[in-house]
Amino acid sequence: MTKQRVLTGITTTGTPHLGNYVGAIRPAIEASRDESVESFFFLADYHALIKCQEPERVAQSTKEIAATWLALGLDTDRTVFYRQSDIPEIPELTWILNCNAAKGLMNRAHAYKAAVQDNEDAGEDPDFGVTMGLFNYPVLMAADILMFNANKVPVGRDQIQHLEMARDIAGRFNHNFKSLFALPEAVVDDDVAVLQGQDGRKMSKSYNNTIPLFETQKRLQKSINRIKTNLLEPGEPKDPDDSAVFQIWSAFATAEQTASMREQFEAGIAWGEAKKALFELIDAELSEARERYNELMAEPAHIEAILLEGAEKARAYSEPLMQQVREAVGIRRLS
Ligand code: TRP
Repeated sequence: MTKQRVLTGITTTGTPHLGNYVGAIRPAIEASRDESVESFFFLADYHALIKCQEPERVAQSTKEIAATWLALGLDTDRTVFYRQSDIPEIPELTWILNCNAAKGLMNRAHAYKAAVQDNEDAGEDPDFGVTMGLFNYPVLMAADILMFNANKVPVGRDQIQHLEMARDIAGRFNHNFKSLFALPEAVVDDDVAVLQGQDGRKMSKSYNNTIPLFETQKRLQKSINRIKTNLLEPGEPKDPDDSAVFQIWSAFATAEQTASMREQFEAGIAWGEAKKALFELIDAELSEARERYNELMAEPAHIEAILLEGAEKARAYSEPLMQQVREAVGIRRLS
């Protein structure tokens, strides 16, 4: 049986938070333990440059995200874990795909359209602040995926359109030149919790409401204490379905623990007590990984070595495929 190839990229801009953990990292690492799949995970540092022009931040985030996945138990013997910029075939393929992707298709990309819309709303030139990087974003992402003939690509809802574009680009290439690319499919897991942040909106760096994944116990406790609650007193029944404390609890708890917390809410648990329990629950799940994370962060050369090994494994796929792509489009040795 040929294994399903699953691939996903993580843009290296922020510091991993509980929302990233629950929504993406934990399910991805769990899924990678399935014997019937072959998993490719990579740090999308070229994508980071699209939205972040702060070199230190890109570099720091790359280190933090790599350390996070390793600390959480990603098995790099069974998976291919690499950094996008270590694979020179990716930008090379991007160019060739650029020459096959319809500009009209790219005009419809959500991220680009939103930027143009914001400019129009502000009475600016439509292209104000829009880089070619932003415009070409879906082509780079298509190259990431097609380079490894990925079948399944786990992503958030906002990325479905990019997967459709990757399929379109692959189909055109296969039709015009040679059938070299698998048509990838987006996998959106609706069961995975979208974690609420401290203000009850989706936990997201752009809302500034995140709880970092690996901060000290003390800071974790403080971040949890900052989760917004209402003014109900101890003893007054509280609505679990209207509470970020309960929602985050459910993402870490077993079914029984969730049922029991629901009862405690209805019985009027004090907010302070509920938050203390939440801190203890999260801390228990993360404390070992936090120690490994701190060790890794103190030894970047070790992370670097793991990434370079991953790149070598990845290039065993990308180099021969790129050779076929060059040949197919007519970039050849003269004979
Ligand atoms: N654009 C994706 C995001 O912002 C990250 C990404 C880059 C990616 N390349 C990818 C995801 C390839 C899946 C496959 O979430």
